[in-house]
Amino acid sequence: MGKVLTFEIEAGALAAVENAAIASYKFVGSGDEIEADKAAIDAMHNTIDAMAIDGHIVFGEGDEFESPKLFDGQKLGAGGKEFDIALDAIEGTTLAAKAMHDALSVLAIAPKGGLFHAPNLYMEKIAIGANYPKNIVDLDKSPQENVKALADFKNVSPNQIGVCVLDRPRHAGLIAALREVGARVYLIPDGDVAGVIFTTKSTSDVDMYMGTGGGPAGVLAAAAIKCLGGQFEGRFIIKSESDKQIALKSGLENLKQKLSVDYLIKGPVIFAASGITNGTLLRGVHMRNGGYETQSMLLNSETRKTQRVKTLRPFDK
Ligand code: FBP
Repeated sequence: MGKVLTFEIEAGALAAVENAAIASYKFVGSGDEIEADKAAIDAMHNTIDAMAIDGHIVFGEGDEFESPKLFDGQKLGAGGKEFDIALDAIEGTTLAAKAMHDALSVLAIAPKGGLFHAPNLYMEKIAIGANYPKNIVDLDKSPQENVKALADFKNVSPNQIGVCVLDRPRHAGLIAALREVGARVYLIPDGDVAGVIFTTKSTSDVDMYMGTGGGPAGVLAAAAIKCLGGQFEGRFIIKSESDKQIALKSGLENLKQKLSVDYLIKGPVIFAASGITNGTLLRGVHMRNGGYETQSMLLNSETRKTQRVKTLRPFDK
């Protein structure tokens, strides 16, 4: 049987994140998050709309009152097979507006029904790279236990384990626990999709990602992990009756359930990300030889292909 995630789908996903990154580049360092977001959304919307697919945004830029384009539930595309799309035109809008590291444009695309419709609730997350025994880390274990499990497996002391955490007051207890066991804590100001991907890179000092962040970003990170072969576990944080209703509406069967990569991403998936600003993962957009140069990652779980793509687009395109 032929592949579902064809070269054309890969090319469309790549163009969508490249075009969004280029469009937002104008606003890098401007301090203007709204205009940066708007430019990226417009560019990504137009690119996806030109793809030969029947696309369904399972989650994007919020509901249709929050964003007139790329909103949750929007249908777009020029017609063809049905695909689910999850995206964030700028993952780390503040990072882009302040010209800080690792602002990305990200998108996941899978055959219809493949992507979990993440509600806009916080999610607890834990992730590690490939080549560890299954379930070596667990959301139900303490931070100390998780660090020790990784250290034991790697036959190193806990102070050789790097853990990436979003720098937020809500993580004060987690950070203290990680430091208490001796782990090195790599704090990031925003962008936990990148934080999760760091764990898969042999060149990175980050072994594990821990903490709470956006649920939609959790599903995007799970798509990347599915392609890169690490481990990811998420669990939505339900604090009120309204959170409960939102979670149930999204199709979550058990509100306390730990969500695996295979629960969040059913079947094959493509994950694409383009650097907006320079970062550990990717270079940001640069002006070069009469055009914009972008650097992107293009991952396909069906073919197991992982590509780093450099593209030069002339200024007038
Ligand atoms: P945006 O793309 O909306 O700017 O989100 C950035 C981000 O840092 C995510 O990577 C993360 O999941 C979430 O925000 C964390 O939310 P909060 O800023 O509320 O802690």
